[in-house]
Amino acid sequence: MRRDSLTAFLEHIHPRSVPEISTRVSFTFCLGGLATAMFLVEILTGALLMLYYFPSIPNAYPSIQRVMYFAPYGFVFRNIHYWAGQAMVILVLVHMVRVFLTQSYLPPRQLNWVIGVILLGLVFIEDFTGYLLVWDERAHWAWTIARNLTEKIPYVGDGFASVLFGPLHVSDLCLIRVYAWHVLFLPATLAFLMSIHYWKVRKDGGISTPL
Ligand code: HEM
Repeated sequence: MRRDSLTAFLEHIHPRSVPEISTRVSFTFCLGGLATAMFLVEILTGALLMLYYFPSIPNAYPSIQRVMYFAPYGFVFRNIHYWAGQAMVILVLVHMVRVFLTQSYLPPRQLNWVIGVILLGLVFIEDFTGYLLVWDERAHWAWTIARNLTEKIPYVGDGFASVLFGPLHVSDLCLIRVYAWHVLFLPATLAFLMSIHYWKVRKDGGISTPL
């Protein structure tokens, strides 16, 4: 891209003017932006972990041990991936509380609130699927409980449980299913919905101002 077209693009995605109050850190605490930063950290560190992770029942746990004890800086990247994931969950929750307390969900921002609720649900599922990938005793039983609970949803439970968690009996297919959700479908959906979320912030007249 030529330099002047890049500048034009950057100017295009920035608002012409912004109310002074919305620029105060104490209004938003940059919580949405910080959640986005954590998402980017997750993508980068997750891509590195993928170089070692092996999604099969006998190999998943040993491959994580390899990351921790043999891969260069593996324990650093795994810990960053773990803690940035937990931070993202907390930041998104506190961002939601901020939006609620400043009543920023009121029209015209009600659709962005709904998109936010979906984002929150997906962030929880993303965190949970990551916890399952370790495939230690805890993950095995967490998978069993989550699958059984999902099956109990009236009418759609069985199909839903298979799509989300894989076949009823534990096999490599189950782990591959959870892995595909964790590294592909959920991050892609999150990135897509986050883009709409930012676009809606602009469309709705920028960040809200105090009532
Ligand atoms: C992956 C999760 C999320 C990300 C990355 C994200 C990101 C952002 C960002 C960057 C902003 C601009 C202002 C700010 O930083 O506070 C924003 C605004 C907003 N977000 Fe989120 N958000 C997420 C989840 C949520 C959730 C869970 C809700 C509520 C259920 C929500 C509702 C809103 C609303 C209504 C606005 C407009 C606020 C205003 O105009 O003051 N978002 N979001």
